[in-house]
Amino acid sequence: MKLWGGRFTKETNQLVHNFNESLSFDQKFYRQDIRGSIAHVTMLARQGILSEQDKVDIIRGLESIREDLDSGALAITPDSGYEDIHSFVEGTLTERVGEAGKRLHTGRSRNDQVALDMKLYTRDEIQEMDGLLRNLLKELLAVMEANLDTFMPGFTHLQKAQPITLAHHMGAYFEMFSRDRSRLHDIRERMNYCPLGSGALAGTTYPLDRAYTAELLDFYGPTLNSMDSVADRDYLLELLGALSIIAMHLSRFCEEIIIWNTNEYRFVEIDDSYSTGSSIMPQKKNPDIAELIRGKSGRVYGALVSLLTTMKGLPLAYNKDMQEDKELAFDAIDTVKGCLVLFTGMISSMTFRKDVMEASAKRGFTNATDAADYLVNRGVPFRDAHGIVGQLVLACIERGIALDDLPLEEYQAISPVFDDDVYEAISMKTCVEKRTTVGAPGEAAMRDVIAQYRKQLEQ
Ligand code: ARG
Repeated sequence: MKLWGGRFTKETNQLVHNFNESLSFDQKFYRQDIRGSIAHVTMLARQGILSEQDKVDIIRGLESIREDLDSGALAITPDSGYEDIHSFVEGTLTERVGEAGKRLHTGRSRNDQVALDMKLYTRDEIQEMDGLLRNLLKELLAVMEANLDTFMPGFTHLQKAQPITLAHHMGAYFEMFSRDRSRLHDIRERMNYCPLGSGALAGTTYPLDRAYTAELLDFYGPTLNSMDSVADRDYLLELLGALSIIAMHLSRFCEEIIIWNTNEYRFVEIDDSYSTGSSIMPQKKNPDIAELIRGKSGRVYGALVSLLTTMKGLPLAYNKDMQEDKELAFDAIDTVKGCLVLFTGMISSMTFRKDVMEASAKRGFTNATDAADYLVNRGVPFRDAHGIVGQLVLACIERGIALDDLPLEEYQAISPVFDDDVYEAISMKTCVEKRTTVGAPGEAAMRDVIAQYRKQLEQ
């Protein structure tokens, strides 16, 4: 069934129908479509545009459709012939409640209807993703609290640089995913205005109360330009941007986990339940999940670039090109949600090898800066100290030992300023402990930050 046809003398070509239809994917927001319609008729009746009886019949019909779709009693099939979810709901409604169903679309166009549905859907999904991000943050916080003294090398250029703790490393990701939450929140704030009542592009001649509809649907108010209302997909672009950044954060984290999980590093061991095997090499245990999450960033970025490209040449107001927003947004949202769930599970079941991390920090001379600082604190100019410690490192490399294991005589042979308190001064514990500025890995500084994170998560 079609919502149009009066001015046509021929049937639609089947290939045209197949190419044009969106029911196969926009059925995803049937709940939002029905919610919007209920608000619309509630407003129409209050304005005297629709009779009370019609309103009651329509709402009863819409609710029965929703229940039947939820339960599976009613199925959306491709051979129904409907073009989109809007036609499907209206057609089914008319089958169920008769004449009244035909009055549902009074003072409305599919252009403002789809703009509304997509916003309602986006808003619901933002809330769900916020919950998933929050779960991930809780998990990271748990790892942080358990690893305030798990020393490990911090890297620059993927070369061991200075000692940090696992808590500190996880804290960096906590920051990233917190920003992701706040980005989603910002998008919701900006988009939360109701387009319904904008009509096809130029408003309507019916005395609609757009503020009331907006209120019924939990928007801050109605949008203020009917052309923009039906042509705006900025919030989806922002969402795809935010999702791309989430995907990028997950991808970086996965890259680290893949490296840490190698035979060479062995900083972590991904749990068997989150690993996969090889069909030919019996010894293999592969980090497929981390790799897939890293890989899926590509399709999320792709959605962003695709929609930006689709939108760039569109004249005002609605154009059918915009139907392309749906599959892109749905796929990106579902992809990121899946990644967040899997990633959180992988992290929470992963083993962190504290001993391996600490040994790696020592063997990587991450305390060399602290050895130089030791000399500076005893009056040696920094540039000289840098040279002295460089020589000590070279001596250690030749013998395959850490600075912590070099005998005192050898320290003193290169600089008499060294005393046996040097070992204490360059221990991983001291190196980290001395870093007490806000945001540094020292335990006291970390505890302050963790308390703030806790509070943030409780809000
Ligand atoms: N399926 C359409 C979309 O997703 C709904 C709006 C249709 N409007 C129209 N004038 N054909 O954009």
